[in-house]
Amino acid sequence: MIIAIDGPAGTGKSTIASILAEKLNITFLNSGGFYRTLTYAIMNAKIDYSDEEKTLDFCKKQQIIYDNAHFILNGEDITHHLHDDFVSENAAQVSAIVPIRHLVNDLMRETTKSLSIVCEGRDMTTVVFPNAEVKIYLDASVEVRAKRRFDQGVSDMTYEQIKESIAKRDEIDKNKKEGALKVAPDALYIDTSDLTIDNVCDIILRQINK
Ligand code: DC
Repeated sequence: MIIAIDGPAGTGKSTIASILAEKLNITFLNSGGFYRTLTYAIMNAKIDYSDEEKTLDFCKKQQIIYDNAHFILNGEDITHHLHDDFVSENAAQVSAIVPIRHLVNDLMRETTKSLSIVCEGRDMTTVVFPNAEVKIYLDASVEVRAKRRFDQGVSDMTYEQIKESIAKRDEIDKNKKEGALKVAPDALYIDTSDLTIDNVCDIILRQINK
């Protein structure tokens, strides 16, 4: 079974997907983490990602292992760096490079083939797993999403800066040449602005049981 969840940054996708995976005893796939891992590698190697060919060549040489929501890059667990500001600030641009999307999509499909999964990202319901049995689109206002990120306390940015950064990411995510964020016609749309994580999990579990 594949349960696919899409939506913009800060809608609680990864928290909700990991809770559902645990409840259902299936694998959680965090697709944004793959783009973040490559962004982390690119920034550390000081690669200019506006040179798409060079960036792709570099990315092809990186070994990424996804193990139970941990990202192992060339043998090192770098999961704790994936929400560093320099990664968050550049991941949308890296993820907009079309051949990098193909590389990541192949890697994700290979990693999860024949597994039951809950996956989340921007194009899980539309591009990567269009045959998913359950499709969900999570949304919330930009103010609510910025406040949630700010309250997580993982960023050095002010609330206003976070809001601006999320709005910029939305713009990039919704206008990508491939894998742009959009609501799949067969997805259940949930506005989470006034809902708790538990509320959203209950709604999705009801949808799965249907
Ligand atoms: O979900 P996230 O914030 O961890 O994702 C990091 C970046 O990767 C974000 O800018 C959107 C992008 N992304 C994407 O383009 N496609 C996905 N399936 C998942 C994330």
